[in-house]
Amino acid sequence: MQPDLFPLLQDPALQQAIASINGATMPLSEARIPALDRGFLFGDAVYEVLRVYRGRPWLFNEHMQRLAYSLGEIHLAGINLDRLRQRILQVLAQSGFAEAMVYIQITRGAAPRRHPFPAGAVPLELFYVQEFDDPYIEARRAGVQAMTFPDLRWQRCDIKSTNLLGNVLARQAAAERGCTEALFCRPDGTVSEGTHTSLFAVASGRLITPPRGTAILPGITRSTILSLAGRLQVATEERPLFQSQLRSFTELFVTGTTSEVLPVVAVDGAAIGNRQPGPITRRMQEAYREMVSGEY
Ligand SMILES: Cc1ncc(COP(=O)(O)O)c(C=O)c1O
Repeated sequence: MQPDLFPLLQDPALQQAIASINGATMPLSEARIPALDRGFLFGDAVYEVLRVYRGRPWLFNEHMQRLAYSLGEIHLAGINLDRLRQRILQVLAQSGFAEAMVYIQITRGAAPRRHPFPAGAVPLELFYVQEFDDPYIEARRAGVQAMTFPDLRWQRCDIKSTNLLGNVLARQAAAERGCTEALFCRPDGTVSEGTHTSLFAVASGRLITPPRGTAILPGITRSTILSLAGRLQVATEERPLFQSQLRSFTELFVTGTTSEVLPVVAVDGAAIGNRQPGPITRRMQEAYREMVSGEY
């Protein structure tokens, strides 16, 4: 360990976090990745983030299915996802954490630095389990500010790849303006999603979210919200949202595994509705919470 290089890793939650690399477990603070790992050099890797409620990974199947999809799309074969799932459950049990987050990353492994896929590289299967102290409680109650930002990402946003520089730059711009999220604006005038969230709007009592495709990540919370809306008889539409329409929506919210349902009460400083989380947003928040606590 070179403590001078990793001062931020002294965080107590990270100190207690447990990592697993290809089946070997260790404190996260001791986990090491080879410098020639292709995830590090090329972003040749995919990932997942899971939320654990009361000791149980939430929507585990859905996350593993999306991981399988991402792996398939980058032609990374031979990962035993059933074994990975068992390992996650074991480490989680070992941690004793009730409210937790699991970060999973699969890379194409370490190899001499050449672009084509290396023959014989052993994929790196990393995950870690960290206790989750929910930072969004107040934000969910009061709502957050968001800003628009150009979508600088690549053309396969449906793959959960670790190439997140476009997301990082957008999220940083948001932070510098006191905003919680940045919403990606595309050259065709549409607003697609947030840096780490899916986007929903309300117009004439209908819940609208951009359609699945290569422009967005198929959010697991997004599909959960769509099915909850169906049960609550809230009409839904999957269609493009345009930047020019943003101010006309009566409600706006973003969704994600750790964010859950986060009301957006202003975009670029302009109020959405009356700058308060709206009634449909509240219903979706409550329904989601009830689902998480097992009441659905
Ligand atoms: C770009 C992007 N969109 C949407 C989401 C929300 O997806 P999920 O609900 O599966 O967490 C994420 C999550 O990290 C994301 O990175």
